[in-house]
Amino acid sequence: MPGKRVISIAATATLILSTGAADAAGGAGHVEDYAFTFQGPFGTFDQNQLQRGLQVYTEVCSACHGLQYVPLRTLADEGGPALPEDQVRAYAAFFEIYDAKIDDWRPATPNDHFPGSNLENAPDLSLMAKARAGFSGPYGLGLNPLFRGTGGPEYIASLLTHYTGSEREEFGAILYGNETFPGGYIAMAPPLWDDQVVYNDGTPATVEQMALDVSAFLMWTAEPHLMARKQMGFTAIILLGILSVLLYLTNKRIWAPVKARAKSGAPAR
Ligand code: HEC
Repeated sequence: MPGKRVISIAATATLILSTGAADAAGGAGHVEDYAFTFQGPFGTFDQNQLQRGLQVYTEVCSACHGLQYVPLRTLADEGGPALPEDQVRAYAAFFEIYDAKIDDWRPATPNDHFPGSNLENAPDLSLMAKARAGFSGPYGLGLNPLFRGTGGPEYIASLLTHYTGSEREEFGAILYGNETFPGGYIAMAPPLWDDQVVYNDGTPATVEQMALDVSAFLMWTAEPHLMARKQMGFTAIILLGILSVLLYLTNKRIWAPVKARAKSGAPAR
């Protein structure tokens, strides 16, 4: 029947057009599904990894990117990089910040925040791990976000490790080919190369290792209380579980006489 065929052609065309449109809109590139220690309902930050990530941020990324929403004192927090207080003071003094009160520059103290970005077009990284999603969804059972997260740190780690090596000039600026960045070309030159930093704990500083470490660190800056949140959630589930059992038993007990009467055939009161 010709009518039927027209309808099916139209349906196929709509399908093709709509998937094409979805591709163009999402445009997100390849994101590797790295396994981070802080994923899953019981995930925790790896303190050594956070310290290595802080080192990569400080020695590499901070040349361009700021962390202006992160107070320096939180580097000493439990559940974070947990640096000793004197190290945090020494670390803070390493940054020069502008103080409006004295109308001059002075070394930062732990009470100040990290400085903002040095480069106008380099975005602040404080919340970047939460601002990007490597995986969309939830698909299937909808449990992916619980076990794999939403892929913010995976996106950052992939971005840093998936440069293609190609370059392109656009309006006088050089863009670098990148499989992860939406659109395929990013204005950030590949920032990492092997052995760019020397880790104190002897971990080999490969590009991938540094990318994973700095991504974990940026997850901490974006959600410093992740571990407390997970712990509280777990405690709440246990307590609600106990409460459910108690309610079930109470319910049984309250209705027991009524049930017994019903069974013995006595008339209900
Ligand atoms: C030489 C300066 C420079 C350095 C060093 C640098 N970046 Fe960038 N970065 C940029 C610029 C510029 C952009 C904006 C790129 C664009 O929008 O095309 C950017 C963008 C980004 C983005 C955002 C991508 C997005 O999805 O919008 C992330 C994440 C990022 N950089 C992480 C890092 C990390 C982590 C490091 C350290 C390992 C680092 N950068 C080092 C200049 C730099």
